[in-house]
Amino acid sequence: MSANFVALAYLVAAVLFILTLKGLSSPVSALRGNLFGMTGMALAVLTTLTVHSVQNVTYILIAIAIGGSIGAVVAKRIQMTQMPELVAAMHSLVGLAAVLVAMSAFNNPFAYGIVAHAGDALHSSNRIELFIGTFVGAITFTGSIIAFGKLSGKLSGKPLRYAGQHWLNLGLGIAMIVFGIAFFITPSWTPFLIMTAIALLLGVLLIVPIGGADMPVVVSMLNSYSGWAAAGIGFTLNNNMLIIAGSLVGSSGAILSYIMCKAMNRAFINVILGGFGGESAVADSGDGKQKNYRSGSADDAAFLMGNASSVIIVPGYGLAVARAQHAINEMSHLLSEKGVNVRYAIHPVAGRMPGHMNVLLAEAEVPYEQVVEMDEINNEFADTDVVLVIGANDVVNPAAKNDKSSPIYGMPILEAHKARTILVVKRSMATGYAGLDNDLFYMDKTMMIFGDAKKVVEDVIKALA
Ligand code: TAP
Repeated sequence: MSANFVALAYLVAAVLFILTLKGLSSPVSALRGNLFGMTGMALAVLTTLTVHSVQNVTYILIAIAIGGSIGAVVAKRIQMTQMPELVAAMHSLVGLAAVLVAMSAFNNPFAYGIVAHAGDALHSSNRIELFIGTFVGAITFTGSIIAFGKLSGKLSGKPLRYAGQHWLNLGLGIAMIVFGIAFFITPSWTPFLIMTAIALLLGVLLIVPIGGADMPVVVSMLNSYSGWAAAGIGFTLNNNMLIIAGSLVGSSGAILSYIMCKAMNRAFINVILGGFGGESAVADSGDGKQKNYRSGSADDAAFLMGNASSVIIVPGYGLAVARAQHAINEMSHLLSEKGVNVRYAIHPVAGRMPGHMNVLLAEAEVPYEQVVEMDEINNEFADTDVVLVIGANDVVNPAAKNDKSSPIYGMPILEAHKARTILVVKRSMATGYAGLDNDLFYMDKTMMIFGDAKKVVEDVIKALA
């Protein structure tokens, strides 16, 4: 294929990737966005295979078949709640790929078209690109493995802190740059490998102090790193497609990290320095007295909601765990038929991944006009008869508004506590992801309905019908 055709095909693929990001910004267009992404990726891969420097297409096709089959099986089996850990695992592979490509490009730059003749020295700009692509890739690789371990529960979600932690990381960061400079001056394997080993260690040490509650930001940050690593390697290989795709991933991941930090009211630098989340608080009032709560049944909930004129449903992580999205949609239909105005309130970090609740509700075909974002619905809680908090905890914790000592103080919340009656469906009085007790559960106007979210909603449906 001529160079012009390759450039044109890459341009079309790049436009498709941009349309993908645009499509993914709303649940209504997300499916179309995914289709754009798949088409763009297929076009990018096929075009790359036709480039004359690719000599053995058979090996690549075998690798694609193996990787594609594993990917298809994993995608079929994975539960929605396991998605963040899957994403972390995928990022680790992007980081590893960046390191391996950089190593093989350094080993034989002529084969990659980086130098004009076999044995030519690497240009200084290539050394910088290789250095950046390798260390960002190595940090992404091991950092993502730790994030995967924490999210999947294979490693403790608690932040691991020790004296001198930041100094050690700073020292290692400086050592890594020193060996990078040594590689720049004399490109040889010794400084390259030492620099890579330090970056691999740094990936572990940077992520272990970060607590479970901040993991989503970390995953999105690692997503961004993996994009920059790919872009760095794209410069080395002179591949515009890799540069564009890497930059899109890098910048969208960085923007997502920023949006999530804002939604959790966490300063980005505090997230990176770690130490938040994973702790567990007990349900007492702070003065040693046990706090009281009221509990009721699914029948009580059906009676209260069936006689209300407005109901706001606040879904959270527990709704996803219980896979109660279809049941809750059926319940809302029954309530709507009785003339109740039903809406869903969506917190940006409810669940375990960005847009988690939107995806669940879309899967159950909840009408989009019933799904309202936090900023829009917060003014309406005070005029609402019943709020049904189902499997949500941290995102409705009033401590975020009125307890300055709380670790989540300042995080925007859904102001469910302002409604006339509050129903909370969960299995126990256990804490949510941030490990904090929730005063909402002990308010006089709150009724706890204990049980698995799906079972409770099915019982409410029976009572309503
Ligand atoms: P959480 O605060 O984690 O609370 C979820 C609640 O669901 C738990 O208290 C749990 O109580 C209940 N639950 C679990 N399984 C259930 C089931 N089968 N049936 C009924 N209830 C069940 O959830 P949230 O309010 O959605 O807040 C999300 C939290 O996760 C925030 O702290 C956020 O920062 C963090 N986070 C968010 C993300 C993103 S990007 N969305 C990613 C990772 C972490 P019981 O055990 O008593 O049932």
